Amino acid sequence: MPCEMEKIRAEGFAAVVIDILRASTTIITALANGAERVIPLTTLEEARARKEKEPDALLGGERNALPPPGFDLGNSPREYEPERVKGRTVILTTTNGTRACQAAVAAGAEVVVIGGFVNRRAVVEFCRSFPGPILLVCAGTRGRFSLEDSLYAGSVISGLGEGLQLSDGARACLTLYERWQGCDLAALVGGSTHGRRLADLGFGEDIRLAAAVDSHPVLPVYREGEIRLEPIGTPGF
Ligand code: MLT
Repeated sequence: MPCEMEKIRAEGFAAVVIDILRASTTIITALANGAERVIPLTTLEEARARKEKEPDALLGGERNALPPPGFDLGNSPREYEPERVKGRTVILTTTNGTRACQAAVAAGAEVVVIGGFVNRRAVVEFCRSFPGPILLVCAGTRGRFSLEDSLYAGSVISGLGEGLQLSDGARACLTLYERWQGCDLAALVGGSTHGRRLADLGFGEDIRLAAAVDSHPVLPVYREGEIRLEPIGTPGF
């Protein structure tokens, strides 16, 4: 959780930033659909100032799940289709997800990757190939626990196999995943607090997209202020 991140030092760790609904799903989708890079920023002011400097970039994101005034795009993965994003830079600011990216960097993580159900296998392969410890950063919702993020963290841990040294939080995530493994993922994600809210706002289709396991087999890596795709399984550090 981002609130815990303030106390965590992550030098030597690889961090996986997780915001299933919807920032990580949207970032992965945008890059898989051909966006050149995504620049995650914390505040609306920072994002608008960056757009002024880079007027050709697309300005995307949300506040209270809706696109802020003057933005080109919201935070729905559906909007980041190839015709819209191919070859473009996306400046993105969201309530929890882009903050979690910054928190992972501030904690000193050696490398930061973006994880979602849509690229689960790529993230598991990356974690397997990373020589050091892994920090799974669940963005949560306004500092609170999110079922969908924890379920995904558990699915990554499960994919890494036996014999791992797990924190209490990681064990809880794994137990959650094992309890629900094989269930209808879209229904579980859609039944979460934020999932119900998004459905009420008319974003039900985003839940189905967020639960489409391995629909985008790519590895987004956040380095020096921008997120780009890197080859899967190549730690490169
Ligand atoms: C966030 O970063 O808080 C989210 O992705 C919210 C959303 O747009 O669903």
